[in-house]
Amino acid sequence: MKNKELLNTKEAAHHLGVSTSTVYRMVNRGTLMPSKTPGGQRRFSIEMLNDYLEKSKDIKAPQIPVSYKNKEKNKEENEKDPKEEKKKQVDKRNKLNNLTGTEWLPATKSYFYQKGLGSKHPHAQIERQHPAPFSFQDVENLILFFTKKGMNVLDPFGGVGSTAKACALNDRVCTSIELQKKWNDLAIERLETEVGRGTSDNHVFIVGDSKKVLTTMESNSIDFMVTSPPYWMILNKKADHKVKKERVANNLATNYSENDDEDLANIEDYDEFLNILVDGIFLECARILKQKKYMCLIVSDFRHKSEYVSFHSDLIQKLNNRKTSDGKILKLQGTKILIQNHKSLLPYGYPYAYVENIHHQYVLIFRKY
Ligand SMILES: C[S@@+](CC[C@H](N)C(=O)[O-])C[C@H]1O[C@@H](n2cnc3c(N)ncnc32)[C@H](O)[C@@H]1O
Repeated sequence: MKNKELLNTKEAAHHLGVSTSTVYRMVNRGTLMPSKTPGGQRRFSIEMLNDYLEKSKDIKAPQIPVSYKNKEKNKEENEKDPKEEKKKQVDKRNKLNNLTGTEWLPATKSYFYQKGLGSKHPHAQIERQHPAPFSFQDVENLILFFTKKGMNVLDPFGGVGSTAKACALNDRVCTSIELQKKWNDLAIERLETEVGRGTSDNHVFIVGDSKKVLTTMESNSIDFMVTSPPYWMILNKKADHKVKKERVANNLATNYSENDDEDLANIEDYDEFLNILVDGIFLECARILKQKKYMCLIVSDFRHKSEYVSFHSDLIQKLNNRKTSDGKILKLQGTKILIQNHKSLLPYGYPYAYVENIHHQYVLIFRKY
């Protein structure tokens, strides 16, 4: 019979809420020391894994480093090989980011896979309270491509601070605007507990309505804007089985606010919602953005009653080639698909009709010219 106290690599990864390749890296680094079966298979004791989970609560950023950072480590190891030396240099003409040519290329693929810590991870507990956060690791990928160290990043829908956390972990400076004080307070707490005491002081957290706050911000002052807006009022619909099981049963919020009129998720008319989002917020962000810099909008399509709403294409239609109030133009540069391969499949239309399991988000990438 299988010894339940000893887990194989896949089970250990599941227990920790990380990928199996992260477990391999942890073993290589000596963070985890599994035993081996007579056949040479690794076995991890539950006690050791729980011990790691407990300890990682207090260490700075025990999260999975993104691929660029692994390469940073390899760079040190390959120090003496001149060919490797050349590959690791950042081109002097590169004013956009700190990536080398070999790191730059894969980051231009039109898709990437969503990464998360897993809901059991100690550092996922604050994020979990918000009904629609994005993964700080996914936004970290974008920040590492679209900024250099020390640059300013704006998120006009800051939520529980996933953008701020990604900035804090990578020496960028975040300005986060969030309408609800409770989410903003959690964002600050998240940085303090998950990144380090005092970290939140290096970033700007504003509680307020982005429509108003953005008008007070200086033009040409931000190096990169990345955000995920409310997807109209999808959170306000009646809780389905999944929401009941995962959120209502665990006493977790299912919407951003109850009746706040400034909350974009409470606007009933879709066209009115789109106009406010595009003209009142995104074009204003574009004014604040420096020239030749980028903005990334992370959005998904959704269903509303019997309609399939292609939110991402509506946004592109409304934003592409629009003039900003400082006389510049916003141009679409690409749409990256963020694949959510871990989501469980639900039998929506079975056995009668095609009803899609929407398991991807779009990253709409615009540049200011
Ligand atoms: C999709 S969530 C963003 C989550 C965030 N990316 C994170 O990871 O925590 C959208 C956020 O926009 C906020 N929001 C809605 N209307 C707003 C407004 N007018 N001004 C600022 N924030 C607003 C909501 O409270 C919600 O937290």
